[in-house]
Amino acid sequence: MRVLVLNGPNLGRLGRRQPEIYGSTTYAELVELCVGWAREVGLEADVRQTNHEGELLDWLNTAADEATPVILNAAAWTHYSYALFDACAQLEAPLVEVHISDPTQRPEVFRHTSVVTPHAARVIAGQGVDGYRQALEVVATLGPDSGMGRATGER
Ligand code: DQA
Repeated sequence: MRVLVLNGPNLGRLGRRQPEIYGSTTYAELVELCVGWAREVGLEADVRQTNHEGELLDWLNTAADEATPVILNAAAWTHYSYALFDACAQLEAPLVEVHISDPTQRPEVFRHTSVVTPHAARVIAGQGVDGYRQALEVVATLGPDSGMGRATGER
């Protein structure tokens, strides 16, 4: 089963960007790790990153059309993009929200809101890059047709 692992703005700078918060693993290393972790649980990971919100929305729209499970670290867009809220609302295969840090525990109040969480089958935050491994395990366990990723807007 294929899974999209989608990363939003500035995550391409992992390893160089605020390593005291996000750790020293580079984005290239994260991609390798995700591909390997996915294989271990029988998934094929397509790992992507973009600094362009419309590109992420296009990927989510395609994921909706193809009923592809999504692991999403939308980075700062998580906190304010209503277009992202709408794009996630239409996903039917499982959506797992991941953050390397735990935004709810950080001092900036804007990080305490997520437009993704209402649509997510699971939220994994504050686990470093291991959160992606955990998210892949969740997707492998839920499978494509569990319906648990179906957005209700009520969760
Ligand atoms: C992040 C947390 C967000 O608040 C922040 O804007 C990011 C990364 C994380 O992975 O911890 O860019 O999503």
